[in-house]
Amino acid sequence: MTDNQTLTITDNRTQQSYTIPIYRGTVRALDLRQIKTGPDDFGLMTYDPAFMNTASCQSAITYLDGDKGILRYRGYPIEQLAEQCSFLEVAYLLLNGELPTANQLEYWQCKVMRHTMTHENVKKFMDGFHYDAHPMGILISTVAALSTFYPEAKNINDPKSRDKQIVRLIGKIPTLAAYAYRHRLGLPYIAPDPELGYTKNYMNMLWKRTEPKYAANPVLARALEVLFILHADHEQNCSTSTMRAVGSSHADPFVTAAAAIAALSGPLHGGANEEVLRMLGEIGSNDNIPGFIQQVKDGKRKLMGFGHRVYKNYDPRARIIKKVAEEVFEVTGRNPKIDIALALEKIALSDEYFIKRKLYPNVDFYSGIIYQAMGFTPDQFTVLFGIPRTVGWLAQWQEMLQDPDTKIARPRQVYSGEEVRDFVPIAERGVKQLVHA
Ligand code: ACO
Repeated sequence: MTDNQTLTITDNRTQQSYTIPIYRGTVRALDLRQIKTGPDDFGLMTYDPAFMNTASCQSAITYLDGDKGILRYRGYPIEQLAEQCSFLEVAYLLLNGELPTANQLEYWQCKVMRHTMTHENVKKFMDGFHYDAHPMGILISTVAALSTFYPEAKNINDPKSRDKQIVRLIGKIPTLAAYAYRHRLGLPYIAPDPELGYTKNYMNMLWKRTEPKYAANPVLARALEVLFILHADHEQNCSTSTMRAVGSSHADPFVTAAAAIAALSGPLHGGANEEVLRMLGEIGSNDNIPGFIQQVKDGKRKLMGFGHRVYKNYDPRARIIKKVAEEVFEVTGRNPKIDIALALEKIALSDEYFIKRKLYPNVDFYSGIIYQAMGFTPDQFTVLFGIPRTVGWLAQWQEMLQDPDTKIARPRQVYSGEEVRDFVPIAERGVKQLVHA
């Protein structure tokens, strides 16, 4: 696996030199293991908390250049896909590597929509959640619970079973999300209507009241479709790495996806969209922006929706979302928070603190403002991220299982604790422990 480039390292402890292959700009950490001070030495390891500079896998799904602000799914620029595709078309692309033909798309849509229904028992345990349970907690639990309905899902090495679970999960996750939403409001659950297609069916399950047939506003439905496309995958982020790590133990895809949803729920990851809205609400008006920015620069606050581990340029998704926001506001009326967000962005992007650290708006900065204008409450925002990202997680999970390099994820550590010491009987501990403290 080399492209004939090498790296020569001299170990100054032993004066010995080693030549190791370079492949696609990386060296294998395991190649460093031969660098030892003696036969008893374990060999050199790399130390990289938070994987700041470590590729954990090879992937052919999503390409991201954070310095240039480029995002592509299977080689196609995100801007073109967001402009011209449906969400399920993009889902097919991410999972299969190619855009579907018209026939393939029709078949795929039918398959997914046929799996939007859930077992009736799901409604029973949905009812068990408290009325103000956070929908991400409900989603984590109910996705994990799907594992108990489909025990064959554990056959992760059987491609047919894998396909089945993939379609099941993509089909059912909007239904679970909609049930969680309606449970909170005390509204009866609405059965999926496959004829409506993926996004409009989701809107139907959320917002249908007494009308015989819910008709989603086409501009809002398209906006949601675009937002779903933008959120469908983003290579090895925290939740996707969780999906791969948990899946590498051969856990079934439902419990594995539940772990990924849990990772997504954190405010430093998908939970940021909810926090952005809270922050904008707290700022309240443009007059309070300078004071808020000062607090951020003093390290007392974070500007939520800004900064990214990989993007050191404008997040291309945020650029598209800004445009979508204007289209949505034509229908819903302008969400006043957008003006605070725009003013905040303008001040932040011209401030030395943000310029120096290359902090730009990320996908979460504007998405919540649109969701709120569409009628979602902030606690639903991360759910709206999790539904489309399920496709990315499953595509990455499938790729991981098919990769001959895959082994159970099991990082090393640098032990920094006590050397070996003798057991102290309980009666003799107090004094020693106090001395230790
Ligand atoms: N506001 C203020 N300062 C920030 C922010 C922010 N949002 N983000 C980073 N910084 C500062 C850090 O304090 C640090 O400053 P220092 O060098 O003086 O210590 C510097 O910028 C580098 O930041 P790190 O935290 O080291 O960057 P990291 O790559 O670890 O974190 C992260 C990335 C978690 C996204 C971070 O930028 C952040 O917390 N942003 C706010 C939360 C957010 O919007 N998350 C959504 C990310 S997108 C997604 O997951 C879908």
